[in-house]
Amino acid sequence: PSARTFYEEVGGEPTFRRLVARFYAGVRSDPVLAPLYPQDDWEGAETRLRRFLEQYWGGPTTYQQERGHPRLRMRHAPFAIGPVERDAWLRHMRDAVDSLELTEEQDATLWGYMEMAARSMQNR
Ligand code: HEM
Repeated sequence: PSARTFYEEVGGEPTFRRLVARFYAGVRSDPVLAPLYPQDDWEGAETRLRRFLEQYWGGPTTYQQERGHPRLRMRHAPFAIGPVERDAWLRHMRDAVDSLELTEEQDATLWGYMEMAARSMQNR
């Protein structure tokens, strides 16, 4: 059998669209996180996160074409991300991942990555 990517396994682009839409709905209403984001480009922020995640999980490489190498730690350096911001980010992501109703194994795969990545983005 050909190796299906995780991106395909969980439903491809529509799944990632749902994930980031739910996530950003939470972030936009969060008094700690919302001020960090570009107030005039929420749609752009949503697209950048979605394309990054799609690429990371084996989908199209549009992110790389548009943004180059991710260098995520460097790109987050301008934002003060301490434990409070990290936990708030993870709380909205947890809610968004829950909304996808993945299998237990898929959920564990995605969530394990999110926790690891959020820890590594902490810079305060
Ligand atoms: C961009 C905050 C964690 C992936 C951003 C931006 C902010 C932000 C304010 C700028 C929005 C934009 O214009 O794109 C945070 C906070 C985090 C966090 C507070 C808490 C830990 C993460 C994690 C990932 C991630 C864990 C990956 C799984 C991205 C990506 C971009 C981005 C891909 C766009 C980079 C670009 O191409 O410019 N983040 N982030 N972030 N974040 Fe995060």
